[in-house]
Parts: sequence; structure tokens; C-alpha cells
Amino acid sequence: MQTYRQRKMEKQSIVSIKDLTKENILELLRVAELFEKNPNRRILAGKVVATLFFEPSTRTRLSFETAVNRLGGRVIGFSDPAATSTSKGETLKDTIKMVSNYADLIVMRHYLEGAAKYASEVTDVPVINAGDGAHQHPSQTMLDLYSIFKTQGRLDDITITMVGDLKYGRTVHSLLQALSHFRVKFNFVACRELKMPQEFIEFCVNNGIDFQEHTDFSPEVINSTDILYMTRVQRERFADLDEYERVKDLYSLNLNMLRDSKPNLRVLHPLPRVNEISQDVDDSEKAYYFEQAHNGLFARQAMICRSLGIDVKD
Ligand code: CP
Repeated sequence: MQTYRQRKMEKQSIVSIKDLTKENILELLRVAELFEKNPNRRILAGKVVATLFFEPSTRTRLSFETAVNRLGGRVIGFSDPAATSTSKGETLKDTIKMVSNYADLIVMRHYLEGAAKYASEVTDVPVINAGDGAHQHPSQTMLDLYSIFKTQGRLDDITITMVGDLKYGRTVHSLLQALSHFRVKFNFVACRELKMPQEFIEFCVNNGIDFQEHTDFSPEVINSTDILYMTRVQRERFADLDEYERVKDLYSLNLNMLRDSKPNLRVLHPLPRVNEISQDVDDSEKAYYFEQAHNGLFARQAMICRSLGIDVKD
């Protein structure tokens, strides 16, 4: 049976992937691997984790809650803010202060960019950002990195093609920043309206990251790719729904498009998908998005332990 040695570390909020060094990231991947071997441990016995979801979620909330349950902790929280005192006008600050009276760790998704950072500044309880507006989604990034590592056997010397909503897709922003620690080549495939924001283009330039921008989702791009990272067009972030209608179906992957792709290519998607990946891709050995979501359980177990200051050794 696997055993774990535990040692106390400093507690740490994770509101941005930039809160983690390359060493932190590699350590989290190592711990995720341990949890994948055995996700059922009583490391969190006596701990209470609050999951505060001000925006809808399936995977992130349920995998965080499963992560806590499998480690022997307890979960409190909400998935419908309308059923909380937020609907009576309670501020985010007061909500966080109240929940801090009850929980050892707060996992929060919020529609406002910067909300997780603000929450972490008004409490001594560590906060994990489960997505803030179009800004950051660091736990998605950790499971993406874990999925890339598992499928490619490395994080260096790979070509990653990001497709779809590169403007509002917080997962691509976090992933791009995390992969700046490694030797990765990027293709950004998006229409003009949804192109990678200038801030992240400048980030690539300033950090010597090799990238190309495309509007055409061409066979040349697909066939040079190791990781094909598809994204959903984020309807909820559009001020103009006519614009959403114009761009929502521009990039869609079907099985035929993978015909001449590299044998090691894997298709990732943070999910939920709408029309970006045709269902005929699902049975391909190159489809990895459902396993990717499964990896979220182990990556989040590692992040929860890190935030609570629990050093997990095998
Ligand atoms: N990938 C992701 O964040 O999924 P949910 O919105 O279902 O949590």
C-alpha cells in the first residue's frame, strides 16, 4: 500500500498560475502522479473546504469536491449564489470573511476578473481561483499540464496549437503563461474578433516564446501539432450576441481533419464543448478530453494539499 509522509509548509493561495514557479509546477505534477496511483487517503481528515461558485461549473466544482471527499475532508459551499445572502446585497468581502470563519480553504469561481485575488487579500484562509472572468483558471492549467506530460512524456519540445476563443478563454491564457517555463512552440488559430489579446502576444515576445498566429485552421497547422487545444467560444462574455452568432462556428474539428496528423497528437479541450469537436472524434485514440477532465481530480488534490501547506511525499 502507498504511504505518504506529511510535513507542514506555508499555506498558499493560488489565484494565478504566475503564483507558481517552475519548481512548484513540477512538484505539483509529481504529487498529482502520487494521487493518481492512490486518490483515496485521509490526508484532509478534520479539514473543511468551501467551494463558492458564483458562475456555473460541472467539472471544476465536482472534481474539487471529489478531491476533498477522497482525501477525507468535508465540503461546504454553494453553486447557486442566488440562494445566498449575496442576493440580499452582501458584498464579496463580507461573504469571504464569513466563510473564513468556517473553512480551512476557499475554492472560488467568480465572473469578475481579479475576484480571487481580492478574496485572497481580505482573508488569511488560502484561496484557490477556480476561474475569474476571462482572466485565469490555474487548476485547469495544472490538469492541462499533467495531461500534456502524460500523453507526450515531456513538457519541452512540443508544438501546441490553440484554437477558437483565444480572447475570452481564460484557460489558454493561464496555459500559455505556465508553458513559458518550457520550450514550447505555439500556433494560435482564431478569427480577428477572438485573437490572442495583445497582452499575451507581448508576453510571448518578451519571453522569447516561439509563436505563429493563423486565421486558417489548415492541415499544415494540424499536421505539425503535438497538442491540439480546442476551446469553446465563450458566449457569456460577449457584449454583442450578434457577434457571437457570427463567430461561434468558425472552428470545428472532425475526425477526417486528423487523418494525416502525427501519431502522438492528442486533442485537448477544457470542456464543456459545444460545436468545436464533432462527436466522431470521441472514439479516436487521439481524443483525450475526457481523460483530461479525469486528470483534474489528481491535479486538484495536489493543489489543495499545497494550498493547505501539506507536503505530500511517497
Ligand atoms: N473546464 C471547466 O472549467 O469546466 P466547468 O466550467 O464545467 O467547471
